[in-house]
Order: sequence, then C-alpha cells, then structure tokens
Amino acid sequence: MFKTDIYTNRRSALRSLIPSGVVLFLGHVESPVNYAGNTYRFRQDSNFLYFFGLNLPQLAGVIDIEEGTDCIYGNDPDIEDIIWTGNLPSMEHLAAQAGIISVSPYRDLRIKLMSAIRKGRKIHFTPPYRGDSKIMLSDLLGLRIGELDNYSSKQLIKSIVKLRSEKEPCEIEEIERACDIGYEMHTLAMRLCRPGIFEYHITGAMEGIAGAANGMTSFPSIQSQNSEILHNHNHNNILQSGKMLVTDAGAETYRCYASDFTRTIPVNGKFTAKQLEIYNIVLAANNLAQEIAKPEKFYYDVHIAAAKVITEGLKSAGLMKGNVDDAVQCGAHALFFPHGLGHMMGLDVHDMEDLGEKYVGYDDEIQRSTQFGTANLRLGRRLKKNFVLTVEPGIYFIPALISKWKSEKINSSFINFQKVNEYLDFGGIRLEDNIVITDEGCRRLGKRRIPITKEEVEEEMSK
Ligand code: GLY
Ligand code: MN
Repeated sequence: MFKTDIYTNRRSALRSLIPSGVVLFLGHVESPVNYAGNTYRFRQDSNFLYFFGLNLPQLAGVIDIEEGTDCIYGNDPDIEDIIWTGNLPSMEHLAAQAGIISVSPYRDLRIKLMSAIRKGRKIHFTPPYRGDSKIMLSDLLGLRIGELDNYSSKQLIKSIVKLRSEKEPCEIEEIERACDIGYEMHTLAMRLCRPGIFEYHITGAMEGIAGAANGMTSFPSIQSQNSEILHNHNHNNILQSGKMLVTDAGAETYRCYASDFTRTIPVNGKFTAKQLEIYNIVLAANNLAQEIAKPEKFYYDVHIAAAKVITEGLKSAGLMKGNVDDAVQCGAHALFFPHGLGHMMGLDVHDMEDLGEKYVGYDDEIQRSTQFGTANLRLGRRLKKNFVLTVEPGIYFIPALISKWKSEKINSSFINFQKVNEYLDFGGIRLEDNIVITDEGCRRLGKRRIPITKEEVEEEMSK
C-alpha cells in the first residue's frame, strides 16, 4: 500500500465531486479455479484498491457523503483462518492503513444499504464485471442482474475517471517499477528466442520474471510467431527460422500497477531486408507519436499522425498508393493497422476499462470514430499532464482481411493488392512503449528502453 494520506486524500477528492448519497465499492471475493478451495491468485478490484488500498478478499468500502463517514466492511480472522493461514491482522489494523477508523462486520453491509434505500438515498456504484459481484450487488440492492449497468452511477464513473486519469507521483513511480520488470521480461524473451523451441518455453520463463518480482503479469501474455494475429494466447508452435515472434506482455507490481510492452523480433536473430523495411516504418510511427504527444493534444490526432507515417512508409514500399492524407481519411491504412495507437494504463492495463471507454478515452469534446480500425482506438481525448498511456502502432498482413478488402474492392484506389500478395505470409509487427505526459511533451517510462532498433534487437538476441 501507499502511505495512509494517499487514500484519505483520494476519498476526500471523491467527496468533493459527489454531492450526496452513499458510495459503495464492493471488493472482490476469491475466485475458484476448479473447486471452491482452489482459487486463482487474488486480485482486488482496482476502484476499491484506489480508494481503500487493501488487496484482500471479501471487503466492501462505503463512503457516506451526508454522514461524512468512510467505513470498511469485513470480518476479523477467526480461529479456523488462523489455523490455516497463520496470524492475520485485525480489520481495525488493516483499515487504519487506509486511514479508516470505522470498521463493521461484512454482514452489516446489507443493513447499511437497506437503511439507505429505505430513506430513498442514492447508492452510487460502478458497473460490475465479475459474475460474483453482479450476484452480490443484485442481492444487496434488490436489482435484477440485467439492470445493474443502467443503475450504475454515471456521476461516480465520471468522478473516478477524473481522479484516476492523472497519476500521482507515487503511482508513476510504481508504474515505472512495472516497466523495469517488463524490460527484464522482454529482454529475456529476446535472449531465449531461437528456431526449434516451443513458444511456451519462452512464455513460461518470461512470465516467471513477473512472479519473481513479487507480482504477476498485467494480462495474459500475447506471444506468437503468427505475429499478424493481434491477440494470440496460443503458445503451442515450434519457432521457425524466417518468422517473427511478437511478444506483447507486461508486469503487474505487487501494488497492482501495470506495464504493457510489445516487441517483434526475427526468430533466427537477424532481420531480413523485407522484414526490416516494414519494421522501420512501425518504429518511425512509434517514435513520431512520442515526439508529438503532449498536454492538450487529442490522442486521436496522434493516432492519425502515426497512421500517416504508416501510410507514407507503405507507399514507399509499393504496398499503398495515392494521396496519403486522403488514404488515411478514407481509413485505407486500417487494412494494415486495424487497431488503436494506445490506451490509458495504471492500476489496470487498459486503465478503468470497467467504467466504460466512452468515459475514459472520450468525453464531451470528442466521441469515438465509427470507421473500421480507428473505431478500435481506446483513447482519443485531449491528453493532460500525468496521464500514463501506451504507444503501440503496428503493421499486419492478415490474409482473411486482405482477401475481404480485395474481393469487395474496399479502398482499392489506395491499396496495391498485387504487391500485398507478396506479403501474405509476412506476419505482423507491433512496437509498444509506455509514456507519461509531462509539462511540455512526454517521457518514456522505465529506466531503459527495451531494445528496439535493428542493432539493439540483434545484439540482445545474440547474448
Ligand atoms: N497489451 C494488449 C492490449 O493493449 O490490448
Ligand atoms: Mn497495450
């Protein structure tokens, strides 16, 4: 946990944004793998963590605006708990770490909420995303599961987004820690990569680094020599010379802050000229995005600028044609770059995605595009100092998508399909870094940049 005043300050900032009602943060319960007693590693809900800090199961936090009280609901360990898990701190002791003096047994949560509901008071809660939280909320609030999202508090959602978007110095420090672990994960993957071994051999070793740093991965690692598949969690292939291995993976620290990096490397340790030509276009798009990201700039505009670098590069390579600005306006680049340039990152790898991307990545000034490809941009709004986000352009040759666009003549005035045919077995390339917005621009997070130039990658792979 951070120091106590971090949590008291966050709760009082929330109070200043919510004029009335009872704010409920339902923490997570244990989640079973294959029977009740065999559980996944526990991970607290991020909103609960942000305001109450405790990464432990079966807790709820309640902020009563009118009463001016903050309370944690949870049970003290009983003798059974102590026999199996050893001496555990009391609820009073735990709550004090979050600056809370009011502690009640978990069963009293129902009484508190019933009393508020009877008085017609508003219960503010965020949209639940886990089955057990939905069932519990439905039971506690007397709402049908299907109605919960509608009844979730837009005022609370917007207030949380306002607070969590601008990272505090202690959060940036923690994210940077996650980035340094990410560096170790990716450089190990580079050193292990070679033809003839299974992908999972690398995945397992790489993920072990996150565990050895007293954390875990921030999401299931994407690692595949079928690098044109955007989110591939299958690691069963034997690595082949001539292919490229994409690794999209990050760490979550023990304080639950994330990193999220992607590198794409030649399986045999040396880029071919054909691979390098495309690779350097993606690298140029990544570098340009980091050069121009700054406060007050719409991240949508950074995305479009990166798309133009990609289009220009693909035009030079003979894969696209026509006017670059027109091609990007028509969305022609999305044949090769069908996803967004990046997303917010913090306690969640896609930070606050549970609250809804239309609140996190967009606002009254800018709404999400409906155009194929750009519609997948998770963050389009104006950047502010201390936003933490990813920069992750890519170029992919996805045979099914190419075949669809070719047969339906989509953007055919901007695509040289004959040349594209020569790349059907090329795979894809994505290069992702993590940045924080500063006073005048942005700063890449992590002590060192994970090897990214041809020379750096080939040198790391030779070790
Ligand atoms: N790292 C996976 C993603 O950003 O979607
Ligand atoms: Mn990402």
